[in-house]
Amino acid sequence: MDSEFFYPSKEVVKNANVKEYDNLYKKSVENPEGFWSERAKTLEWFKKWEKVLDDSNKPFYKWFVGGKINIVHNAIDRHLKTWRRNKLAVIWEGEPGDVRTFSYHALNREVSKFANVLKSMGVRKGEIVTIYMPQIPELMFAMLACAKIGAAHSVVYGGFSVEALAGRIQDAKSRVVLTADGGFRRGKITDLKGIVNEAVKRSATVEVCIVVKRTGHEVFMENDRDFWYHELMGLPIASAKCKTEIMDSEDMLFILYTSGTTGKPKGLLHTHGGYAVYTSTTHKFVFDIKDEDRWWCAADPGWVTGHSYIVYAPLINGATILMYEGAPNHPYPNRWWQMIEKYGISILYTSPTAIRGLMRFGDQWPQRHDLTSLRLLGSVGEPINPEAWKWYHKVIGQEKCPIMDTWWQTETGGFMITPLPITPLKPGSGTKPFFGNEVAVVDDKGNEVPVGEEGKLVIKTPWPGMARTIYGDAERYREVYWKEFEKQGWYKAGDSARIDKDGYVWIIGRIDDVIKVSGYRLGTAEIESALVSHPAVSEAAAIALPHEVKGNSIHTYVILRAGVSAGKQLEEELKNHVSKEIGPIAKPEDVTFVDSLPKTRSGKIMRRVLKARAQGLDAGDLTTLEE
Ligand code: PRX
Repeated sequence: MDSEFFYPSKEVVKNANVKEYDNLYKKSVENPEGFWSERAKTLEWFKKWEKVLDDSNKPFYKWFVGGKINIVHNAIDRHLKTWRRNKLAVIWEGEPGDVRTFSYHALNREVSKFANVLKSMGVRKGEIVTIYMPQIPELMFAMLACAKIGAAHSVVYGGFSVEALAGRIQDAKSRVVLTADGGFRRGKITDLKGIVNEAVKRSATVEVCIVVKRTGHEVFMENDRDFWYHELMGLPIASAKCKTEIMDSEDMLFILYTSGTTGKPKGLLHTHGGYAVYTSTTHKFVFDIKDEDRWWCAADPGWVTGHSYIVYAPLINGATILMYEGAPNHPYPNRWWQMIEKYGISILYTSPTAIRGLMRFGDQWPQRHDLTSLRLLGSVGEPINPEAWKWYHKVIGQEKCPIMDTWWQTETGGFMITPLPITPLKPGSGTKPFFGNEVAVVDDKGNEVPVGEEGKLVIKTPWPGMARTIYGDAERYREVYWKEFEKQGWYKAGDSARIDKDGYVWIIGRIDDVIKVSGYRLGTAEIESALVSHPAVSEAAAIALPHEVKGNSIHTYVILRAGVSAGKQLEEELKNHVSKEIGPIAKPEDVTFVDSLPKTRSGKIMRRVLKARAQGLDAGDLTTLEE
């Protein structure tokens, strides 16, 4: 498998934005600051930086120090001075089939109006606005409006529930929450406002909630706190003229919460300058974006993929973006293929889970549609198994579209290990590091492991798109990512990987207590604490087991409180409880009732023992097991 190559066609190579890798890579790692400063010059700055990289306070790196910029100036304002003003920026399709489109001119109008609304609500530079919305254009307007006036956004994925939302609002101390009455998903209405109402009860800081009317179903609106978006946008205050705030390169653009090893989610902080440079460069080089393209990143803007590659990078690159609200198989499994044909999509970027899910329905669904507009494909979020890769390549890409399997993380801001369109591909490998990045696979001591062997993936060099810290917890940032290889100054990714004889990187999976379910990132600790919050539960453990479509699925073990009896009904109740607390994506496959859990002498649950047992495997070294 490791030696099976798929070569790009001559045409792909001839037309690619970047025509070679080896030489350029070599130069970029010899002089990363030179490479990144050239890239930064492709953006518009209010004031040029004085220093490309400040590494005087490791691991708290700073990029483009002294530079003044606003990402929105680059994503919108500068296009308005060119022919792109009237180019389509966004084509949006709702699940019920409604369509809305926005040129860059129209996008600017919507963003500016809403920015003025936010200002009128007292939103100021530096404060964090929580956004909890379905995949509707207003989600994008809201993010951009915040950034335009210098406020930071914290987008909480619309599939999360009360507890997850409340925890994030509290951590960010948001005064303003932006939401919608609901959204459409698989023909049903999601009750976002109901969840916000509950979450806000637990969050003392919230003073204002702005609600987009999407579904029109009845929702409870609190007097003097809740306002309808469309009503505010109709007021004279919502003028279409709004100045884009001048920001420092290193000013906070957003925080985005992600799961880690403890129950408390981490708010990774990204900035205006470095993030703009990094995301736009990776998008342009890897997805070869050109003015005539129609770009579809079929992620949710609530995750980093959506932040970087639905919203910011494509707009900076002046692309036309497709955004879709609903499920890939609604009402039929040809929904995506139909949209590719209808809008002439040229680049599709999605997750292995979505590919496997659609593959299940058979070739006849895509074959009913003309997919010849496609020229490049992409994959992200979890390792793609060669079978799914080949199906995607053959049936969707018709053997002419290279697949960009991009490895990266919420923490990295953009692609870290990825092919370029010209790279010979191996199904299941993200191939090689992006320009400027040096990566290695090492053992616990930091020695590189032999070719083909598994080890810990580290990034040896800083890059402009890196998260700057964990919001409000710099110590945790240092501890989680930098402590283990502090001496070497390397970033620990939390993934295991191997590098083959051709230097291709193969990601194996997480080595910490993070579970990737359908590409979504969840912490075992979050699931466990949701279980323990149920009155029947005394202790709980969650593990991941391989799943054919989702990549991994969640399996849980529970010790009940004295006097509570186990049973099918309680199992269902506990599964639903997790779903209600965190969100449907976290719903366990099953709950096994047990009398004890394997623990170390210091009381840590040994999840690997549970995992091995569940798979009928040898649990390995058990010397630290207490019972
Ligand atoms: O385990 C890796 C997996 O997703 C993790 C990061 O998750 P998150 O922060 O939610 O970001 C997902 C989207 C960037 C990584 O630590 N992962 C991401 N991309 C890939 C991947 N695993 C294998 N191949 C990939 N292409």
